[in-house]
Amino acid sequence: MTHLLDIKDLNKADLEQLFKRADEIQTETKALRLNRLAGKQAVCLFYENSTRTLLSFQLAASGLGATVFHLPVSHSSVQKGESFHDTIKTIVAMAPDALIMRHPEDHAHQQIVDLLPNNVHLINAGDGQNQHPTQSLLDLYTIRQHKTNFQDLKVTIIGDIKHSRVANSLIDALTTLKTTNIVLYGPDNLMPKQYADKKADNINTALDQADVVVMLRIQKERFDKNEFLNINQWHQQYGLDADKLKLANKDAIVMHPGPSNRGIEISAEVADGPQSVILEQVANGVLLRQAVLYQFLS
Ligand code: CP
Repeated sequence: MTHLLDIKDLNKADLEQLFKRADEIQTETKALRLNRLAGKQAVCLFYENSTRTLLSFQLAASGLGATVFHLPVSHSSVQKGESFHDTIKTIVAMAPDALIMRHPEDHAHQQIVDLLPNNVHLINAGDGQNQHPTQSLLDLYTIRQHKTNFQDLKVTIIGDIKHSRVANSLIDALTTLKTTNIVLYGPDNLMPKQYADKKADNINTALDQADVVVMLRIQKERFDKNEFLNINQWHQQYGLDADKLKLANKDAIVMHPGPSNRGIEISAEVADGPQSVILEQVANGVLLRQAVLYQFLS
């Protein structure tokens, strides 16, 4: 495989290979790690804001000995009107080994894939509300650190499902790993029809005996003017607090891709509580992105 655009392009064996690669990288010496991608060059091009994904890709690449360059779109010739295609062709002409891109449009990466020669690897760092493949890899790896298998888990995902590329990628990846009990809950207007069979009737049913609870960010920037959002009622109806969490299994883990709206999607008590693995997700982001970069660039 030349590019990583969609988590559905990876089968169970591919996912397991990446997890093993991450295990290996985690235990090896810094000197060995710094040799893995020595001499390689990666460019990060993010048309949307990011803290975790951008920085973790940069740390991941440099931690493997690659040189990584961030082109800030707000200071680039995009601001002079350069088109998306011309921007990509210009970057590709400089022959980096990898182009790591985030874009607000669904399937933006598919639009440019034909502009890339085989030796420039395109890695999707999030496209619109479609896919966020490396987020699902770090999510799965975090679950794997706490649970013995994926098949028997009840995974509950709550919040703004409609606008969430995180939810799409995680549902796809869990399905590849044969997790059948995936339960979704959120406002009806934010529940895509394709997931109707996974929708819980209420938050209590959704949380009941869950093994993994994933809270999603409200993607305000993706709401159009006809989409209704009652932010004042959100925490009561769709937010997670310590009382609601008691419905889940005692050893349930709580996840959030970040950035989180504390007091709306998740209470501070739960976000900072003993069941929260949110910062483990962040740490695993560097490791899984190292596994991906090594897999594609070495
Ligand atoms: N989870 C995630 O994609 O976070 P950032 O937007 O900060 O990269």
